[in-house]
Amino acid sequence: MAQSVGTGRAVEVAALDKKATLAQFGGTAVSSKPVPFMSTGLSPADIAAANAVLQSGMLRAAKKCEELESRFAAMTGAKHMMTCANGTCALQLAYEPLFKPGDDILVPAWSYIATVSMVVARGCNPIFVDCHADTFQIDMADAARKITRQTTGIAATHLYGCPVDIDAVQALASKHSLKVVYDAAQSHLATWKGKGIGAFGDAVTYSFYATKNLGTGEGGALSCNDDALARKIKLLRSHGETDKYLHESVGYNYRMNDITGAIGCSKLDRLAEQTAQRQKNAARYDAIIARIDGLSAPKTTPGGEAVFHLYVVKMDPARFTCTRDEFCEALKAEGVPTAIHYPRSLPNQPALARFNRNDTPVAESLTRMVFAIPMHHDMTDDHFRIVGEALNKVAGVFRK
Ligand SMILES: Cc1ncc(COP(=O)(O)O)c(C=O)c1O
Repeated sequence: MAQSVGTGRAVEVAALDKKATLAQFGGTAVSSKPVPFMSTGLSPADIAAANAVLQSGMLRAAKKCEELESRFAAMTGAKHMMTCANGTCALQLAYEPLFKPGDDILVPAWSYIATVSMVVARGCNPIFVDCHADTFQIDMADAARKITRQTTGIAATHLYGCPVDIDAVQALASKHSLKVVYDAAQSHLATWKGKGIGAFGDAVTYSFYATKNLGTGEGGALSCNDDALARKIKLLRSHGETDKYLHESVGYNYRMNDITGAIGCSKLDRLAEQTAQRQKNAARYDAIIARIDGLSAPKTTPGGEAVFHLYVVKMDPARFTCTRDEFCEALKAEGVPTAIHYPRSLPNQPALARFNRNDTPVAESLTRMVFAIPMHHDMTDDHFRIVGEALNKVAGVFRK
């Protein structure tokens, strides 16, 4: 007995000694300079492109928005691309012609709120679908179970840069005559079975918010492959105007402007290269995470090529003596910032509580498990060393 108390105390002392090595508790940090979480700046070429528009005086949506539309359409495999004010407007412009008030729309429980809040803004009922625990993408088997007679559409997010199982979405859609909108706000240039994701579904929406893979500050776009739908969306984007002060239908002003368009075109010149860099970074991270017990690397949906807007690690809280938040606090002190996408599932957002049926347990579990680590095209060997050492150090201290 005396011996086991002694052993217990020794274990406690050893744990305290280990904790003391963490920068958070007075130990030496892996790096005194934090690794940048993202890289969002403008290059001299971006600034020159914006300046040229400013000097021209042509500030409204004009040639630069059109150039961004045609180039981005070609790069994403879509026929029509329409720029707009932001990714939320893009969702509204897609949902309005495709979904009717009162419709049941299958939506992911795990996404950014706009995918679902704009379904609600359209007057539709979001039906929450759970996600896969390894890819974090919408689980189409759960979607199939939740189809009702009122279901008319699917709004699926290609989350973190990873495509959803597009074959499964399209198969369910054709079986039940559903309209499909893909939210690709985080997934510029992702592909499915070798084709750009713009080739699939009724519409695909994008955000060009400052932190996105193509970031113009604010901005967005949506694509489709149907001529009549493209015409409707263009009208809706600009007050249904078909001629000067002639309005065929009621619409909005959701237009982009040419300063944003010029920045978008300039950044588009580097997007493919930066995307390839993100993919290489993800492979390096995969190798680091594979060697750390209790952490898992994100998986990509088979058939998809992800573009890693975010690199989201999953921590198994049962394997550690700390919570995910404590783990992230310790990482921050070591010089590795993290971000939680997302601290709540969408059914648990107060704004969406009336649609919560408490039937998305995987999404619920992720709220306590996931954290994103730095991911951008400017990562250096030293950044990888710091992130790797910090993850190993913190996991080593807290592992059960
Ligand atoms: C998945 C997703 N959908 C939609 C949006 C909304 O885009 P925006 O902020 O440009 O309105 C975002 C932006 O964060 C997003 O991540």
